[in-house]
Amino acid sequence: MNLDEIGTWVLDANNAFSAALDLDQLKIARLAHSGDKSPIALASRGLGVLSPDEKASAGKLIGQAKESITSALASATARLEAERDKKVLLEEVVDITLPVKRTHRGGLHPITIIKNEISDFFIEQGYRVEEGPELESGWLNFDALNIPADHPARTMQDTFYIEPVDSGMVLRTQTSPVQIRSMLENKPPIYMICPGRTFRADELDATHSPVFHQVEGLVVDKGITMAHLKGTLDNFAQAMFGPDVTTRLRPSFFPFTEPSAEVDIYFNGRWIEWGGCGMVNEKVLANCGIDTAVYSGFAFGMGLERTLMVRHNITDMHDIVEGDLRFTRQFGIGL
Ligand code: DAH
Repeated sequence: MNLDEIGTWVLDANNAFSAALDLDQLKIARLAHSGDKSPIALASRGLGVLSPDEKASAGKLIGQAKESITSALASATARLEAERDKKVLLEEVVDITLPVKRTHRGGLHPITIIKNEISDFFIEQGYRVEEGPELESGWLNFDALNIPADHPARTMQDTFYIEPVDSGMVLRTQTSPVQIRSMLENKPPIYMICPGRTFRADELDATHSPVFHQVEGLVVDKGITMAHLKGTLDNFAQAMFGPDVTTRLRPSFFPFTEPSAEVDIYFNGRWIEWGGCGMVNEKVLANCGIDTAVYSGFAFGMGLERTLMVRHNITDMHDIVEGDLRFTRQFGIGL
C-alpha cells in the first residue's frame, strides 16, 4: 500500500472544503474527499490484506488523516451553515410596520343566515330539522296532501313537471311534501321543520323567483290544538321580527289543513301577510297511517325570501337572487 500521498489527500480535502462557497459545493467536495470512492476510503478498505504489523502502522496513519479530514469538514459545514442562516434571515425579513392587505372574508348568503336562525330557534324547542328531495313525486307534492289531480288547488301553484310526462315527478312547489315523508317515516309525537328550496314556473321579478325557499313546520301529538299553533307562531314571529311583533290568523283555505288560516304579522305599523297554517287535515293524517282518534297536529309554511324582505325592508327580489356582494356583505357572516 502506498501511503506517500496521504498528506496530499488531507491537504486537498482541506483546500476543497475551504473553497466551497455553499453547502451544495461542500457536499460535492465531501463526496470527493471523504466519500466511499475517495483515496482515503479506498486506502482504508485496503488495510484488510496487510500483515498485522503493516496494518497497525498504516491504520494509525489513515486514522489520523480521517480525523483531520472530518474535523476540516465539520468546521467548513459550521461556517457555511452559519452563512446560509444569516442569508435566510436577511432574505425573509418581515417588515411588521407595513400596512396589511385587506381581503374580504367569505360570508354566508342572507337566505342561509335566516335558515340557520330558524333552525336554531326550533332546535332549541326540541324540533328536528328535516330535508326532502327537491325532485319530488307528484303524489307526495300533491295527492298525499289532499290535492287530487282535478283539484283547482293544483293550478294555484305553477308546477315544473319533469319529463317524461308520465314519470309523475315534479320540482317540489312547496316544502309540504316533507310533512308527509316525516309522518310516513316516524311515529308521533312529531315535531319537525323543513327549510328548503322550492320551485314554481314564475318569472323573476321584484316579488317572485322561480327558485325560492320555504320553511315548513309540523307537529303531531296528543291533544294538539290551534292554541298551540298560535303560541308557536307568536314565538316564531318574535324570534324573526323582534319582541314587539304580534300575529293574527285569518281564515283561509289549504287542502292539507282544516281549519286553515293565513298568518299575518303586525310589523312597522301595519299588518303583513307572512305565511299559511292550520290544523293538519284528518285526511292527510289518515293518508299517513296516523290514528286521528288519538293524535292531532298543526302545520305552517312560510317563504324565507318574504321573511327576509319584510324584516330588512328589501324591495326587490333580484337583490336576493343575484348574489351581488355589495348586497350580501351588509348581512355580515351571521355567526
Ligand atoms: N304549502 C303552502 C304554500 O306553499 C304553505 C302552507 C300553508 C304550508 C299552510 C302549511 C300550511 O304547512 O299548513 O302555499
